[in-house]
Amino acid sequence: MIFDTHAHYDDEAFDEDRKELLSSMKASGIDHIVNIGANMASSRSSLQLAHEYDFIYAAVGVHPSDTEELDDGKIEELRSLSRDERCVAIGEIGLDYYWPEPDRDLQKVWFRKQIALAKEEKLPVVIHSRDAAADTLNILKEENAGVNGGVVHCFSYSPEVAKQCVDMGLYIGVGGVITFKNGRKLKETVDILPLDNIIIETDCPYLAPTPHRGERNCSFYLPLVVETIAEIKGVSGEEVIRITEENAKKMYRL
Ligand code: NI
Repeated sequence: MIFDTHAHYDDEAFDEDRKELLSSMKASGIDHIVNIGANMASSRSSLQLAHEYDFIYAAVGVHPSDTEELDDGKIEELRSLSRDERCVAIGEIGLDYYWPEPDRDLQKVWFRKQIALAKEEKLPVVIHSRDAAADTLNILKEENAGVNGGVVHCFSYSPEVAKQCVDMGLYIGVGGVITFKNGRKLKETVDILPLDNIIIETDCPYLAPTPHRGERNCSFYLPLVVETIAEIKGVSGEEVIRITEENAKKMYRL
């Protein structure tokens, strides 16, 4: 069955029908979801969802765009949240240079501190990195961030950068972008990497695959991602599902 390694079902986009959606996941072939924290509030609500549904797990962490809310006390709160039995990773954490704010140095400080937290708590990391390949690679290397495994989610860099991430012990997260007409770089990355290095994700409610591009995304659309990967790799969809599920279970230790 399909493992959605990165979702945001706590998002208000799901307020109207969250229960209905989540209760039909298993019947639709989705048997594991990790709901990812992006700030303090969504870290708490990710854990709440993980306690409500036996197939949902949580990651707790603060996205680079929300790092202005962080201080050392919040890191300690994240630490205690991370010790919950339903928490399987620290994330999403990283660098996002697409927007001018928050200040890059501030993003770097809290990226490093959250990597340190993951290492102290022996948890894998869920990395968000946009328009910041060089700084991300440097910090990941300097901090030995892949020591407990993890993923560069919604991977958007070159195949060469992907190889360096894999060498550090990280997986490459692939979602709806692989189905986009302008997803050529990601297709190349998937083409050169063994399936053993790839996990699949929605990042819902964002990044719905073609032909749903622009709509609210959800895990039901993952077969479209699976099919595209299967085509690129020249294997069956079942094979893609089986291997990426194994990878995700290994990474999140489930
Ligand atoms: Ni996300």
